[in-house]
Amino acid sequence: MRNTWLYTAALVLGAASFAFATPPPGSAKEGKAVFAQHCQMCHGDHGQGNPSLAKMMHVKMLPLGSKQVQAKSDAQLKKDITQGYKKMSPIRGLSAKQVDDVIAYIRELGKSGK
Ligand code: HEC
Repeated sequence: MRNTWLYTAALVLGAASFAFATPPPGSAKEGKAVFAQHCQMCHGDHGQGNPSLAKMMHVKMLPLGSKQVQAKSDAQLKKDITQGYKKMSPIRGLSAKQVDDVIAYIRELGKSGK
């Protein structure tokens, strides 16, 4: 009986550490498609920003792959996307999964240094 408890405890701990060790749930591949449809017109094909839009809106658009943007947590990025960030209006019509996917894609942009 005692052993069963230990076994259960080990299982729970194992599952918990697995949850911490796994990367964000989104798929960067699918996120790329979400990005192309909902973000690219403003953020450019690699998240570098659309210079004429930035000029028109009087903002400096940071490349999404830049250190400053990558320093944000996934939760913060999610908030920027779904609730808006300064002059960017909230992006509507995305499912929770699409938001996770596009965040995974933004992380890819960070890795490729673009
Ligand atoms: C209508 C144009 C437009 C669309 C569409 C758009 N953005 Fe933005 N986004 C902006 C602008 C402009 C800024 C900078 C706002 C500012 O600095 O005032 C910005 C800022 C951001 C930031 C914060 C960057 C920082 O400096 O920390 C993130 C993250 C972001 N956008 C992600 C997205 C994602 C993901 C999508 C698509 C789901 C998207 N945006 C769609 C215009 C847009």
